[in-house]
Amino acid sequence: MGNRIKLAPSILAADFWNLGDQIKKVKDAGADYLHFDVMDGVFVPSISFGMPVLKSIRKQTDMFLDVHLMIQEPIRYIDEFVKSGADLITVHLEACSEPVRTLKAIKEKGVKAGISIKPSTPVEILKGFGAHADLILVMTVEPGFGGQKLIPETLEKLEKMKDYKKRYGIESELEVDGGVTLDNVSDIIKAGAEVIVSGSSVFKGDITNNIKSFKEVFANASK
Ligand code: DX5
Ligand code: ZN
Repeated sequence: MGNRIKLAPSILAADFWNLGDQIKKVKDAGADYLHFDVMDGVFVPSISFGMPVLKSIRKQTDMFLDVHLMIQEPIRYIDEFVKSGADLITVHLEACSEPVRTLKAIKEKGVKAGISIKPSTPVEILKGFGAHADLILVMTVEPGFGGQKLIPETLEKLEKMKDYKKRYGIESELEVDGGVTLDNVSDIIKAGAEVIVSGSSVFKGDITNNIKSFKEVFANASK
């Protein structure tokens, strides 16, 4: 296996009363990205957090902030999330009236751009986005909530995306998000995932141990 698999804990599952300590633990345990789930209650049924929380986290950590915008027409907020400290902004194809223009708006600010699709959106549609996206996020649950079970059919989409990457020379990192656990993560890596988002399987229980266990699985999968 080529590059090292990266872990992106999703703070949606964190204990917000102790958010600072939890982020420190995640960083000290060797997580690569910090996944930041923004939900607007319109594109997805739930509401999470936004720019003020991102700003205060940015002030305290140099971790790579992987911002996942589950919001309608995200082009309206690119500026705000760039100013709030995002290192990567992922938008949903289904939420953009002009997806390429939205990705360009992110990249021209010097921030990495990601494109995400929901489980029912065919992965074929992403063939044309390699040149515009630094990261492709294949959702393995319906976006909107943490703690859901991974939808098994989505693994086929990952396999296809892995194949497209080879066939069309797509350099975008392949990220997976939703329902990832220590039990299913090696299958997900075999299917082609390069960045693993996990909320409940990192933040529920012992954070340091959970991350250590994930990294052990990654190390074995890369052999
Ligand atoms: C769901 C979010 C995911 C979620 C992952 O809409 O995009 O990032 O927080 O949480 P788990 O790992 O618990 O499914
Ligand atoms: Zn997410």
